[in-house]
Amino acid sequence: MRFLRSSLRMGSWGVVVTAALILSLTVICEAAKLTPNYYDKTCPRALPTIKKAVSAAVARERRMAASLIRLHFHDCFVQGCDGSLLLKDADGIVSEQTALQNNGSVRGFGVVENIKSAVEAVCPGVVSCADILAVAARDSSVYVGGPTWTVKLGRRDSTTASRAVAQQNLPLAGADLNNLTAVFARQGLSLKDMVALSGSHTIGLARCVTFRGRIYNETNIDPSFARMRQRRCPATNNVGNDNLAPLDLVTPGSFDNYYFKNLLQKKGLLHSDQILYNGAPTDDLVLKYSKDSAAFYADFATAMVKMGDISPLTGSAGEIRKVCSFVN
Ligand code: HEM
Ligand SMILES: *[C@@H]1O[C@H](CO)[C@@H](O)[C@H](O)[C@H]1NC(C)=O
Ligand SMILES: *[C@@H]1O[C@H](CO)[C@@H](O)[C@H](O)[C@H]1NC(C)=O
Ligand SMILES: *[C@@H]1O[C@H](CO)[C@@H](O)[C@H](O)[C@H]1NC(C)=O
Repeated sequence: MRFLRSSLRMGSWGVVVTAALILSLTVICEAAKLTPNYYDKTCPRALPTIKKAVSAAVARERRMAASLIRLHFHDCFVQGCDGSLLLKDADGIVSEQTALQNNGSVRGFGVVENIKSAVEAVCPGVVSCADILAVAARDSSVYVGGPTWTVKLGRRDSTTASRAVAQQNLPLAGADLNNLTAVFARQGLSLKDMVALSGSHTIGLARCVTFRGRIYNETNIDPSFARMRQRRCPATNNVGNDNLAPLDLVTPGSFDNYYFKNLLQKKGLLHSDQILYNGAPTDDLVLKYSKDSAAFYADFATAMVKMGDISPLTGSAGEIRKVCSFVN
């Protein structure tokens, strides 16, 4: 109302100017949105080039599919999907890679740099590292039998990173449901998104240090499963910390819904996995996904797109890095 009254007072010129302002603001906001066809004109070969490089890397080492999906997740939860995770220590940069949740754990940076080189070779200076992570995550999922989705593009790369924010925003394996819910809610993600996205643990590996507490001390764990995991993960603190075990004991190399089926049998590897099926409000979703892999795939795809939308840098914000591990 006040706007209308002041427009009237301003007379017709005021109205025209105000309308023009609103229009240009709308245009700016539109430009700030990610779109699937962002590189259609500027780099039509971007997507096939990324896909080819991902396929080669995952063919070489199947676990790489898991590692690449996790990179996109750990990027998006810290300052948004801006490639900040990829930056190494440098002048003014304290790398997120040594945050507690990342140190000695996140991997695949060499592969990302190879993908970036391949993309730079076809169109230098056009495609961001943040977008490469988003596309590589989708291509990885598809390669190991998971769902596909249309990746929105147009993210730009940060010129900053934050180890402190990484430590604050990335979930810990020892977290309880309230902690986890808060961590995802901070990113605008729901409980349903969280359960679906946790289904990523249908592939990939975890280090003993992340599940030692669970396999020796928890009661909501299948005893024979606990014994099996104890064989390669000693109870003694800091002994065998880096010994690996599959997050999904049945089909660790394939994207499917065994992660959820395992939870029904108390065979979740991480504390943060099993709490999703432990008499909590998330039980129903776990049950549903364990029976209905189509529902899991659909919700996973939706949640990945939502995660990929977290606070992107667009327009003239940030930059297009030449290499992913350092700012230009
Ligand atoms: C719900 C909270 C989550 C917690 C507490 C959590 C924690 C972990 C931990 C502790 C590991 C093993 C890391 C290590 O051994 O150092 C891991 C691996 C993994 N996480 Fe999560 N995660 C969560 C959610 C997610 C989400 C949302 C995604 C993807 C959308 C994801 C994807 C993965 C993948 C693919 C791996 C295996 C990586 C590899 O083998 O290289 N996780 N996660
Ligand atoms: C990261 O891990 C390495 C190797 O285990 C260790 O030497 C280093 O202190 C850790 N960095 C931080 C910041 O915790
Ligand atoms: C979970 O939240 C509680 C209360 O906010 C906090 O004291 C605790 O340190 C958190 N634990 C983890 C693992 O994040
Ligand atoms: C199990 O819990 C006990 C008591 O809280 C603790 O002293 C011990 O270190 C824990 N063991 C492991 C392997 O986490």
